[in-house]
Amino acid sequence: MTETALREQMVQMAHSLFMRGYSSGGAGNLSCRLPEGGFLVTPTNSSFGTLDPATLSQLDAQGEHIAGERPSKEAVMHLAFYRSRPTVGGIVHLHSPALTAVSCLPGLKVDNCLPPITPYYVMRVGKLPLVPYYRPGDSGLAEAVAALAPTHSAMLLANHGPVVSGGSLREAIYNAEELEDTARLFLILLPHGMVMLTDSQIADLEKTFKKS
Ligand code: 13P
Repeated sequence: MTETALREQMVQMAHSLFMRGYSSGGAGNLSCRLPEGGFLVTPTNSSFGTLDPATLSQLDAQGEHIAGERPSKEAVMHLAFYRSRPTVGGIVHLHSPALTAVSCLPGLKVDNCLPPITPYYVMRVGKLPLVPYYRPGDSGLAEAVAALAPTHSAMLLANHGPVVSGGSLREAIYNAEELEDTARLFLILLPHGMVMLTDSQIADLEKTFKKS
C-alpha cells in the first residue's frame, strides 16, 4: 500500500473502532510501518473518532519525530515492538473494556491470561502474556514489550489494556477485535467454568494457520 492509502486506512479503521466502543476519549494508539521505512502513529491525546490523514505523526526507523503532530507517548513501545518482531506491519493499543477488565483480575497466569476457548483466538493470537504494570509511556514498558515480541504477537499490559500486532494494520485490528471478543466471552463464562480446546486441537490450528 502507498503511504497515502495507509494514512486513509488508519483514519477509517480508527473511526470504526471509535464508533463501536473500542476506544473513547484520547485512549489508545495505532501505528503502521511505512513502505519507505519508519512508521506512522496516532498523535498523543487524539480521538480515534476525529483523526486527520495529513496530521498523523511520522517517525523514522530510529523513532525520531519527522512530521505531523506530536506522537503518542507509546510511540517508543511501538518502535520496540517493530524492532523485536520484523514481520509486524501494524500495531494496536487499546483500553477496550473487556480486555482491560481482564488486565485488572487477580491471579492471572503470567504466560497466558486468556485460555484457549475458541479456534479464532488460537489462530489469530495464540497466547496472551501479561506485562507487569508500568506507567503509560514508561520506557520500562517498551523494554518489557520488546522482550516478549519475538515470541508473541500480542500481550496484555496489567491494569491498562492490550497491545496487538499483525502483518498489516488491518490484521492487527482484526486480531485485537477477536481478542476483545474472547475477553468478553471469558468474563461471561468465568462464573460457570469453560471447556477449553485440547492440546491436539491447538496443535492442528497452529499447523494450519500461521501468525505474523
Ligand atoms: P497517547 O494519547 O499518548 O497515545 O496515549 C494514550 C494511551 O492509551 C496511553 O497508554
